[in-house]
Amino acid sequence: MARQFKVAVCGATGAVGNQMLQCLEERDFPVGELRLLASERSRGKTLTYKGQSIPVQVLGPDSFQGIQIALFSAGASTSKQFAPLAARAGAVVVDNSSCWRMDPAVPLVVPEVNPQDVAAYTNQGIIANPNCSTIQMVVALKPIHDLAGIERVVVSTYQAVSGTGQKAIFELEGQLKALHEGRAPEAKVYPYQIAGNLLPHIDVFQDNGYTKEEMKMVLETRKIMGDDSIKLSATCVRVPVRYSHSEAVNITTRKKITPEQVRAALAQAPGVKVVDDPAKLLYPTPLMAAGQDLTLVGRIREDISQERGIDLWVVADNIRKGAATNAVQIAEILAAKYL
Ligand code: A2P
Repeated sequence: MARQFKVAVCGATGAVGNQMLQCLEERDFPVGELRLLASERSRGKTLTYKGQSIPVQVLGPDSFQGIQIALFSAGASTSKQFAPLAARAGAVVVDNSSCWRMDPAVPLVVPEVNPQDVAAYTNQGIIANPNCSTIQMVVALKPIHDLAGIERVVVSTYQAVSGTGQKAIFELEGQLKALHEGRAPEAKVYPYQIAGNLLPHIDVFQDNGYTKEEMKMVLETRKIMGDDSIKLSATCVRVPVRYSHSEAVNITTRKKITPEQVRAALAQAPGVKVVDDPAKLLYPTPLMAAGQDLTLVGRIREDISQERGIDLWVVADNIRKGAATNAVQIAEILAAKYL
């Protein structure tokens, strides 16, 4: 029988944690034992894995004894406190929070782009899973970088509320219902109503006028691609969509390339599906991407405003490829090559 692993999912009751369970199941990850962890609020709850009901345990300092792989998605402060404890207990942590991403000793991995960086898990026992918007963008950028070198990227995002967690999905649904019934919508998760609106504000504002989400896209892209010379400017926008982030990506390449070359490179790239036939009204949409693991790319065209410019429209399920699937793919590399 193939080797099996003792796996913990920390934050198992959340939007991403739940999807991690589904991904482990769908991809038939060799799980020998599964430990589900969440906060005191989830005491007494159970979750289902492969038809079996598994009790949720309250996270504590001893939660990781005997665990080999710990998938974390319980927010940055939980990761900061518990990821080192899990690593000390002998687990390799794959952490979905922003806590460790820019730590030079912690690898930041998108399996289609820099799988070799997984090897550096030995530094701290932690591998960071990148920001959702960054993951789908670099999956599409990497083949173009290999082909022509990327000099500069200007990206605008259209990000689904599920990126904020389960509570934001409930907030959007509650507001839509309230509007339908002629009641005033209540905004608790976001500073303004999100139903019928959009907010150019994701994560906290920084001193330079960008938000933290925008700066994550800049810094994480350079780290994953291993190229600090890539210039990038991002505007991140929350939109009233449940699942899948969309991105308008404008690229300046070092070498001139044609849209046909980009289309051919992307058609062969791992994890990418080209959906690009305007004559048939075929282009990626959030509903099209939701529930799958591929990053969809369309609207591939030459930027008419510059010499070496390409425009793309990139859409992926933020909870799957943008978070859970990417983390499980990293766990698969660990299981196959390192543990
Ligand atoms: P709980 O459901 O018990 O609150 P989301 O991103 O969808 O909001 O989910 C966050 C996940 O992180 C949930 O599983 C949540 O558990 C978990 N979580 C949040 N804070 C803690 C904490 N202090 N300790 C353990 N788990 C936590």
